[in-house]
Amino acid sequence: MRTTVELFAGIGGFQLAADRLGIKTVWANDICPKACKVYRSRFGNGELSEGDIGEKLGDIPPHDLLTAGFPCQPFSSAGKKRGIKDPRGTLFSYVVDVLRQHRPKCFLLENVKRLLTMERGVHFATILAALAELDYLIEWRLVNALHFGLAQNRKRVLITGVRVDLLKPENGHRVLPVRLVTPEDLSCLSRTQLGWIDSPHEWKDISKHGAKFPNWGLARDSRFFSANLREFAEAQPTVMLREVLQDKVPSQFDFTESTLERIGNSTERNKFVDGVEILSNQGGGARMGYTVFGISGVAPTLTSTASRHYERYKVGNRYRRLTNVEYARLQGFPDDHCSAVSVYDQYSLYGNAVPPPMAKWAIGRLKTKGFSVRQVPNKERQKELFADA
Ligand SMILES: C[S@@+](CC[C@H](N)C(=O)[O-])C[C@H]1O[C@@H](n2cnc3c(N)ncnc32)[C@H](O)[C@@H]1O
Repeated sequence: MRTTVELFAGIGGFQLAADRLGIKTVWANDICPKACKVYRSRFGNGELSEGDIGEKLGDIPPHDLLTAGFPCQPFSSAGKKRGIKDPRGTLFSYVVDVLRQHRPKCFLLENVKRLLTMERGVHFATILAALAELDYLIEWRLVNALHFGLAQNRKRVLITGVRVDLLKPENGHRVLPVRLVTPEDLSCLSRTQLGWIDSPHEWKDISKHGAKFPNWGLARDSRFFSANLREFAEAQPTVMLREVLQDKVPSQFDFTESTLERIGNSTERNKFVDGVEILSNQGGGARMGYTVFGISGVAPTLTSTASRHYERYKVGNRYRRLTNVEYARLQGFPDDHCSAVSVYDQYSLYGNAVPPPMAKWAIGRLKTKGFSVRQVPNKERQKELFADA
């Protein structure tokens, strides 16, 4: 049986995904007592180790897949080398330590979209350089929760790695390096660019990155290849916020009188931004001030920030915030996943989590070697782009 270890486990978004794919979580860790309470209530006492990951590294058992939604922290500018900063001393560096020590077959990391642009690209370059020198082929892709059947605009960077020795040809067949894209997604690339996918010696040095990393790419040793893809061919049909709302919502979720008064002074907008319906706000832009969201689009990104939990939605004739159960649904968790903690605490735990359907999609890509032809509608295109060498 395949096994996995989940670092920065939170409420276990990766564990839910792994369970559904028949992969056994043998060890998990988080420092937050409330997240750990939820984790134990859902998955039992067995594999969770509560506390600072820095003090637990020696306890980690061997495993096939490492997953981590690591917290985003600035890197130290001391130890600058080749224009890239030093990840040592950060939580991300523990991911590198575990990979170096255990050499799992593959890994999956998740983080916020701005990872690709932070510090004018230096942040992501540091991460790529640290991972790519470990003899893994790295692939990243910017994805959105709304492509996985969730009614939420949530852009996340997924970073995968597969051990280079597992990519060697088997039975005379080349194992393709790309996993997070279909040939359809790559159809916007030129023939020359397609040729480069399989030729790491043609790739750019990571230290020569730009201020903004494209939404998809590959890295190996100190080099990378990247492109901005327009398609996500496997996207599921969009689900609207109205389809996931609860029927009977108690009045505790309604606006207070003073909030209603302020909304009275708002300007009508009636527009969609990134699929989110903005009914009105108080000047200054789509998301600022007392924004009132409609339910004909998707929800804006749920976060762990308490102020976001009080975002206002017009549902029928009522103005209210989303419930904890609606948060669970928008993130792809079972309704009662966090019932071990208070309603208030559930918001930030869900807001921090990786949506299990997104994690499941990516882990599923790692399990297969090369492309799964079944998911590619245009077989001729597939043959043309990726005929076995
Ligand atoms: C972005 S969240 C990951 C959420 C998780 N993927 C999920 O599905 O719920 C980052 C997590 O890292 C945890 N964390 C932060 N510092 C830590 C540390 N020093 N040791 C262990 N966990 C830590 C936080 O408590 C938080 O749950």
